[in-house]
Amino acid sequence: MNPKFQPLFQPYTFNNGVTVPNRLVVAPMTHWASHEDGSLSADERLFLQERFRGFGLFVSAATLVSPEGKAFSGQPAAMGEQDLPSLRAIAALAHEQGAKALLQLHHGGLKAVPELLHGAAVVAPSGDTGGARALDGAEIQALVVAFARAADLALRAGFDGVEIHGANQYLLQQFYSAATNRRQDAWGGSREARMRFPLAVADAVLAVRAQHQRPDFIVGYRFSPEEPGEFGLTMQDSFALIDALAQRPLQYLHVSLWDFYKTARRGADPARTRIEQLHAHLNSRLSLIGVGNLRSAEDALAAYQTGWAEFIALGKAVMLNPDWAEWVQDGREQDIVTELDPQRADRYRIPPLLWSRCLEGMDWLPPLKGNRDWRPRDI
Ligand SMILES: Cc1cc2nc3c(=O)[nH]c(=O)nc-3n(C[C@H](O)[C@H](O)[C@H](O)COP(=O)(O)O)c2cc1C
Repeated sequence: MNPKFQPLFQPYTFNNGVTVPNRLVVAPMTHWASHEDGSLSADERLFLQERFRGFGLFVSAATLVSPEGKAFSGQPAAMGEQDLPSLRAIAALAHEQGAKALLQLHHGGLKAVPELLHGAAVVAPSGDTGGARALDGAEIQALVVAFARAADLALRAGFDGVEIHGANQYLLQQFYSAATNRRQDAWGGSREARMRFPLAVADAVLAVRAQHQRPDFIVGYRFSPEEPGEFGLTMQDSFALIDALAQRPLQYLHVSLWDFYKTARRGADPARTRIEQLHAHLNSRLSLIGVGNLRSAEDALAAYQTGWAEFIALGKAVMLNPDWAEWVQDGREQDIVTELDPQRADRYRIPPLLWSRCLEGMDWLPPLKGNRDWRPRDI
């Protein structure tokens, strides 16, 4: 390995004593490839196997905790005992590749897809004109239990931990954002009340780990730092969320960014990056995972060397390069590709539906080869 990349391969010990072999994280990636019932399919296995050898942490695709939260066809599930065999197989796929396995726990809320719900209503903090119905208090409590049940299944399936999906405008973020939470009860109104559901989920997941007496079980929380729009989340909201989460015995936070270097929009210094300011605010109370359009080895190293994150997550880079970390370790970093070549489907092993989206050249997917106009999604 070129010694300059050595810093990315330094181990890190979490505050619960668990050591991760290095600073590289496989970003969670939905693949639209599980069977209809959420069980592991051959296409999904093909995508996950032999893809991230050399990474320290693997975060799974967003995995459904309750049926009415389904936001993707082919979404994996962690809803009951029937899901244990597939969950065990996914954890084993990560372990075979040497990474610690984290299950990402997800509910789509407003972004659930009605056609996938078998007649159930789309539920959300507040109703909307698109047909979503506001959750009542008992349903909110039941969803807290659903997240805890999914964490329990993950633990029993051999996962090393879970990542609570509080990002990308799914249910937890919908509760925190005044743009989507217009409730006037205990679950909405003030910033503290809007934060109550995400924190209840975090506490319930942490309680599962305590019940199993497994302090080594890693619990992380992913959030999106800002939203556009008058009532959308600001950096001040994110600082407040960080403060609340940092009071809990979590292991890490994971900021969801499409561009690692995106500057703050509101509620912080707009001349400085979001991640720099989040990391400074966190002030080592928890570790931070950063992400966003880091594709080459040089990109990952430069991001890490900013000092703004303890870990660097890669999504598209891992889609395009099933040997990314091994190549860096073997001094072959020049072989890493940063664009998708439509002729190389055999190499990427991307499941069919995701592959067809890749060919459309969207801003959240890898740039198509030769497309000089591609820019990462800007939110
Ligand atoms: C195909 C695809 C699927 C994704 N699915 C998820 C997901 O399930 N959960 C999540 O939190 N983020 C998801 N993301 C966002 C990534 O985790 C990551 O934050 C984003 O792609 C930016 O990183 P990158 O530029 O390295 O790809 C997905 C991104 C892609 C490209």
